[in-house]
Amino acid sequence: MRPRADAPQFVLAPMDGMTRASFRTVCFGYGADGATTEMIQSLAYGRAKRRLSATFLETLVRFPEEGDLAAQLIGGNPAMMAASARKLCDLGRFDAIEINMGCPARKVVGSGNGAALLREPERAVEIMRAVRDSSRLPVRLKLRLGWDEGSITAPELVRAAEEMGFERVTVHGRTRVQRYAGSVDIDAIRAIAESVQIPIYANGGVTCARDALTFLEQTRSGGVSVGRAALKQPWIFEDIKLLRAGETPREHDAVERVDVLLRLARLSCLHRPERVAVCEMRKFAAWLLPGLTGAADTMARLNHVFALEDFNQLMEGYLDGLLRAGDTRVHPELNPRTDLDTLTKPLPET
Ligand SMILES: Cc1cc2nc3c(=O)[nH]c(=O)nc-3n(C[C@H](O)[C@H](O)[C@H](O)COP(=O)(O)O)c2cc1C
Repeated sequence: MRPRADAPQFVLAPMDGMTRASFRTVCFGYGADGATTEMIQSLAYGRAKRRLSATFLETLVRFPEEGDLAAQLIGGNPAMMAASARKLCDLGRFDAIEINMGCPARKVVGSGNGAALLREPERAVEIMRAVRDSSRLPVRLKLRLGWDEGSITAPELVRAAEEMGFERVTVHGRTRVQRYAGSVDIDAIRAIAESVQIPIYANGGVTCARDALTFLEQTRSGGVSVGRAALKQPWIFEDIKLLRAGETPREHDAVERVDVLLRLARLSCLHRPERVAVCEMRKFAAWLLPGLTGAADTMARLNHVFALEDFNQLMEGYLDGLLRAGDTRVHPELNPRTDLDTLTKPLPET
């Protein structure tokens, strides 16, 4: 194992529609060492004169409580990627720029973006160079192992990133063809981590804090990037640190889960219209409530709630009921969904 000067990092993976400033702030509160924005479309952002929608501008929001934060760019046109990188640097609110070469959605790869670049290493390198040359900030790369098991291009792209002075590379140990299912190739990530000096962050398939530590160890990586497991357990970052210190993580009961939802809603209303923010809470509730008594009924009632005050009232009333019944514990038998691959609905493929 290559000796590393820095302590391993446990960071929140970028997730479109989820890792907004509000959710990131909650994860930083639980000790995440870093995070990345949702992917930012360089075609929309790079064009100087185009007016940006309010939804787009929300992806550029950063809250003061956030720690190390990279802005993630996606695109297949080197000039647009360079222009976007320059603008992101000029905003002065991010710590790094990250290039997305992992998104598997058909619409994305169909336009030559995201994971499509894994099939075109020369264009991928051209984009990396363009972003590096136009960024005052450190540049990072996030990629998958390759397009399919017959075309594993991550090793050469990671070497290129190292030669260009990138700050780090996050390797999702699956191919594009695997999308979000199937096993993560731990050996392939380790082989990459052991072949370069640039820090490699391992990603894919972590389900709990103990898993994250095992993944770090097995991949010999400098860090671990946690995606879907953090949606279900934003406290995973705290648990990881407690476990590393030989301590036992706390139980995360209904009181804490409802508190996370209340905080998320309040934070979300700071950067989104109230109705949009409150509707979006249905997604987060679907990750956080299963396993609690009455979760399904509460989630059904959430579908009719559009104002922050009503949301707070519903959630506080729900918690009161559980407290009165002395039933705030999580019941695993009420939440049989344990396999991460079945937890996430398929991403849109249109
Ligand atoms: C809903 C969702 C949205 C995602 N959006 C992005 C994204 O914008 N940029 C990116 O690089 N990866 C994105 N990913 C991929 C994750 O960052 C991560 O690589 C993947 O989920 C595997 O890690 P996990 O098993 O820990 O979830 C997304 C994943 C999910 C589930």
